[in-house]
Amino acid sequence: MSETEDSPTIPIVGGTGALGTGLAFRWAGGGIKVVLGSRDPERAADVAADVAGRAKGEVSGMSNADAVGTGEVVFLTVPFASQSETMAAIRDSLEPGQIVVDCTVPLATAVGGPPTQTVGVWQGSAAQQAQKLAPEGVTVVSALHTISAQGLADPDWVPDEDVLVCGDRKADKARVAELISRIDGLRPVNAGSLETSRFVEQLTPMLISINIRYKAHSGIRITGLPEGDPFS
Ligand SMILES: NC(=O)c1ccc[n+]([C@@H]2O[C@H](COP(=O)([O-])OP(=O)(O)OC[C@H]3O[C@@H](n4cnc5c(N)ncnc54)[C@H](OP(=O)(O)O)[C@@H]3O)[C@@H](O)[C@H]2O)c1
Repeated sequence: MSETEDSPTIPIVGGTGALGTGLAFRWAGGGIKVVLGSRDPERAADVAADVAGRAKGEVSGMSNADAVGTGEVVFLTVPFASQSETMAAIRDSLEPGQIVVDCTVPLATAVGGPPTQTVGVWQGSAAQQAQKLAPEGVTVVSALHTISAQGLADPDWVPDEDVLVCGDRKADKARVAELISRIDGLRPVNAGSLETSRFVEQLTPMLISINIRYKAHSGIRITGLPEGDPFS
């Protein structure tokens, strides 16, 4: 891996889509190197060039499996219907000690339903399903479910919201929180263990429902928190 603690590289599996490119736009614009993964390396390179140009930053593209090896913390931004298949495709490329940040929302669109509903997941949440599919020594943290990809891609949109981070190891959540806080206007909040992700994943269809009515990029804000870092 070419990254260092001060100068991370952020691989995004399924990074050519709405959320991946939105995050890449923000991180790259803030001087962080981003690698977009795709099933199609050529597509990844084309999309990366476009994002790099808009963000005036460093973004490259490659296969999902190759992207995984470029950074310690790997973001997974694929539709729920392809989460299992994608985890299987990157499984052999993941190394013990790596963190997979699962952003998957089990929207009912996976079975032809509306985006204002979800489907049940046997393991309890999409994040817990990802953990089941991860190799030994790789931990899953869940985050970013309530952030609007459209908003992230819009240079005029100034985020001012919280990101609920769920995971079973404090140190992993702290690592992920540090990367999230590098996007101006996003405050990571320690929401609890990975199983808490089942609640967080249900917030997205509610926000989509609000967005439809207000034509907005709504988000969430947790009130009443003391100052200080709940991840350390
Ligand atoms: N959009 C949002 O505002 C938002 C916000 C929060 C969370 N999320 C969640 O984040 C995840 C990604 O959302 P998104 O809107 O970015 O999704 P998306 O644009 O529909 O898809 C993301 C990428 O996933 C890959 N993909 C699509 N179908 C696939 C398949 N059958 N097998 C393997 N890979 C496939 C594609 O990459 P390649 O074709 O290049 O391989 C695609 O560019 C979802 O679970 C979503 O619920 C989205």
